Amino acid sequence: MGKTPPEVDTYIKDHRSEFEEDLFELLRIPSISVDSQYKEETARAADWVATQFDRLNFHTERIETSGHPIIFSQSPMVEGAPTALVYGHYDVQPPDPLDEWISPPFEPNVREGNVYARGATDDKGQMLTHFKSAEAWMKTKGSLPLNLIYLIEGEEEVGSENLEHFIEKFQDKLACDCVVISDTSQFAPGQPAITYGLRGIAYYELRLSGPSQDLHSGTFGGAVTNPANALATMLARLIDEEGKIQIPGFYDDVVPLTTREREGFQSLSFSEQRFQDLVGVKNTSGESGFSTLERRSARPSYDVNGIWGGYQGEGAKTVLPAKAGAKFSFRLVPNQDPQTISQQLQDFLQEHLPPGITMQLVDLHGAPGVVVPLESPYIEASARAIEHGFGTSPVYIREGGSIPIVSTFASRLGVDSLLLGWGQNDDNTHSPNEKFNLADYHRGIRTSACLWSELATIQ
Ligand code: BES
Ligand code: ZN
Repeated sequence: MGKTPPEVDTYIKDHRSEFEEDLFELLRIPSISVDSQYKEETARAADWVATQFDRLNFHTERIETSGHPIIFSQSPMVEGAPTALVYGHYDVQPPDPLDEWISPPFEPNVREGNVYARGATDDKGQMLTHFKSAEAWMKTKGSLPLNLIYLIEGEEEVGSENLEHFIEKFQDKLACDCVVISDTSQFAPGQPAITYGLRGIAYYELRLSGPSQDLHSGTFGGAVTNPANALATMLARLIDEEGKIQIPGFYDDVVPLTTREREGFQSLSFSEQRFQDLVGVKNTSGESGFSTLERRSARPSYDVNGIWGGYQGEGAKTVLPAKAGAKFSFRLVPNQDPQTISQQLQDFLQEHLPPGITMQLVDLHGAPGVVVPLESPYIEASARAIEHGFGTSPVYIREGGSIPIVSTFASRLGVDSLLLGWGQNDDNTHSPNEKFNLADYHRGIRTSACLWSELATIQ
């Protein structure tokens, strides 16, 4: 068993405020990857990451892409020791709606032991735990017990396309024994988790056009197909009242849940009431025949993410709009293939296109879902490290979000990812008032430092 040397743990304890200050510094950079207006700020976050590694004298490269830079960094070579690849992302989601933030999204604010800022948990705070653990080792022992490769990108929130190309091209440079990622959540406060499954995604924009310009709805309504009506109908047809997605073939490749897994879901202490309170609803809903936990992590889903068309201003305007559109996505599970889904979707929508309407379907991004085998020495090592850092052993869960590059690590590098999340379900990721618990930040650092000794013992 690899124990953390006491001086490493002591360094972590003694540097709590410096570690927090560093996190706050990164949180002040608005690295919003989807918004081209923030391109320079996003690049500044990449530089900030590179500087962290420069300070440890790691070999660091900044790789330019057609989007945002990738930071590659390598710790000094330890002969004969295993190699772990740490993945993280320095980009964040847009902070809107801005007026719902209690403190401004890029001015980190500490309240009741949590730091509030966009990116606090997703993924700046979580990612940094693996930087700070390496710092603790380097500053106290002068070296790490294993080889670390850091691969940090700025396009996770927009699909990781450039990183995928990079991995395909530089497989040899990225050879490793396992991947370590902290960009997920604990099961509950005080109940850390190892996530062994993530959903994939297929994201689209549908644009419908009807008449050549907006029309008077009195003069033309009833005789000319309204693109907004057509859009509502088409979007509604994609799912039935039982929560089953209606695209022919959609479920063909879905790996069914095993009895053992369903028992696993049931054994987790989950309160439907607390879940409803968390999101502020009186009822949950979803695919019939499945529990809330299964629906939100291990079964496919369909969501409209945005919708537009026609008059949005004050009061009423009688108009038959010329155009309407929507952004929508499917969460996928193993073994669904996003490209197959795209083709099936295109055919389905074409078939349900009302007369007088033309459509354009834009495929924005896609990634398959993943499950990671639990029987591995790496998982066992992670569980021991979590026990050291959090004082309790982890539960094993699947989560519904997506980290697109995880399937690429499996297919291109042939390695499993250890999904060790320090976040909480109520961290407001992608929402106003995102937060990260600072005690979990420090527990994450302690766990990570222990993980390096644990992984070092695996032959
Ligand atoms: N940290 C999340 C992934 C996540 C969310 C894991 C919830 C587990 C539970 C990640 O940064 C993220 O938000 N990914 C996007 C990917 C998409 C834009 C391709 C997602 O899931 O929407
Ligand atoms: Zn995210």
